[in-house]
Amino acid sequence: MSARNNDTYDVVGIGFGPSNLSLAISLEEHHANVLTNPVTSAFFERQPQFGWHRNMLLPSATMQISFLKDLVTFRNPVSRFSFVSFLHAQGRLAQFVNRKDFFPTRQEFHQYLEWAESSMTNVVTYNSSVTAIRRPPPGAEAPDCVQIEVRDTTDGSTRRVNAHNVVISTGLEPRMPDGVVRGERVWHSSEFLAQYHRAQPAQLKSVAVVGAGQSAAEITKFFHTQLPHAQVHAVFPSYGYSIADDTPFANQIFDAAAVDDYYYGDDPTREAFWRYHRNTNYGVVDNADIRALYQIAYDEDVSHTKRLHFHNQTKVKSVTADGHTARVLLERLDGAQRELGVDAIVFATGYATMDPTHLLGDLDRYCLRDESGHHRVTRDYRLVTTPELTCGIYLQGGTEHTHGLTSSLLSNIAVRSGEIADAVIKGRTERELAAAAAQVLQTADKSA
Ligand code: FDA
Ligand code: NAP
Repeated sequence: MSARNNDTYDVVGIGFGPSNLSLAISLEEHHANVLTNPVTSAFFERQPQFGWHRNMLLPSATMQISFLKDLVTFRNPVSRFSFVSFLHAQGRLAQFVNRKDFFPTRQEFHQYLEWAESSMTNVVTYNSSVTAIRRPPPGAEAPDCVQIEVRDTTDGSTRRVNAHNVVISTGLEPRMPDGVVRGERVWHSSEFLAQYHRAQPAQLKSVAVVGAGQSAAEITKFFHTQLPHAQVHAVFPSYGYSIADDTPFANQIFDAAAVDDYYYGDDPTREAFWRYHRNTNYGVVDNADIRALYQIAYDEDVSHTKRLHFHNQTKVKSVTADGHTARVLLERLDGAQRELGVDAIVFATGYATMDPTHLLGDLDRYCLRDESGHHRVTRDYRLVTTPELTCGIYLQGGTEHTHGLTSSLLSNIAVRSGEIADAVIKGRTERELAAAAAQVLQTADKSA
């Protein structure tokens, strides 16, 4: 579909990753239930087609959540968009069950997302980067809407659409260490596969990976397997890789109910979520991957063929690009330094959470903030604004400070996008009732 200039929608979604895909499905299922007066929606995605962290679709990397935490099941267990329906449609349901494993590969989950997306193409426009959200100019056709500016990434043209509600879901922001600039041989993990293939792998004789999270472990393993001729250096600040806690009690922090405990909790309660359970997700690695890396290193010791090198308690002090190589200055915590020349270095140094400030631009001054400078957000993920701004601005992501650890993860997207859909539908009903009441009053005035 192609949203036209000046069209007006009940909902405009910015970004079409899993979060807004789940929202689009939720709105579609609402329509299927009521049949009349559909909620009109348009989603804009800057990529040319659907893609979920494509540059990290490494062979055999597995999901970090159960297949039941798909786009819909926790909101609507009988949805036709579930992972189980996908398996059934592929003729693979029995085979999947025979595996007796809750965790599909990321590649299979990506196929599932693409399968679900293929039923939603009527609401999404690709190659479309949203560049601004604005209040409408005085005298505009839709004064109670915000105006969304969309740039076509293929020809640079711009169009504007109006929205009663905006749902910002632009995802995580790759994070590089201060002073390190990305380049031909200096990559962030979010661009890994594209850069790897561009670099002509056979020529990569020495590579380094920085970080001790899941991305770093997966890329280190990938390099070691795919480049049998290469020296592989793993550089990380900790003593060793730490395990991701996915045991049942800890896993409860990803339950929908935990959002309420976090949202309505006091400061010490929220702080305890992070203090005790950060290791469920951040800077940690799946048990199987840790063991695989250790086994590789052990086998190399046994066979005197060492080419996987761990530089623990070490940080990268500087990187200088030098033609097709990068010179990396490493510094151990005890201050000892050492230089490394590599053909490529990957910074698997994580992501910053989504921050809508830049997109909001001038509109941000209508959005209230708390004492620590974070946006205030209602339980149903709506930015709290001053009364002048009557449109709903919702966030999918970037609400770690109000809604907790699941804010940027898949675990809760089915429930969260359902809550946002409900809020939008309720808001529209209230708007329609208010308009009808105003009409009645106007008619009564005229006839009096
Ligand atoms: P996501 O980042 O997926 O999508 C945002 C979209 O917005 C992108 O497609 C982007 O192009 C688009 N966009 C950005 N700015 C735009 C603009 N201005 N205009 C238009 N479009 C714009 N979590 C989990 O629970 N289980 C898991 O297994 C994993 N696995 C995983 C693997 C890897 C490699 C990473 C990096 C992360 C995960 N995660 C995860 C966490 C991850 O955040 C989560 O899986 C989803 O990507 C969240 O979906 P969203 O739609 O919110 O963001
Ligand atoms: P991450 O968990 O935030 O890990 C980043 C790592 O980089 C940490 O070890 C961190 O160390 C280190 N680091 C940060 N700055 C550094 C610096 N300047 N020098 C050296 N090291 C530095 O990031 P991630 O591994 O990319 O994971 C992000 C999200 O994606 C997580 O939710 C993860 O589960 C998910 N993911 C999932 C899959 C999958 O589904 N298979 C694959 C990859 C990622 P400190 O902790 O000391 O800061």
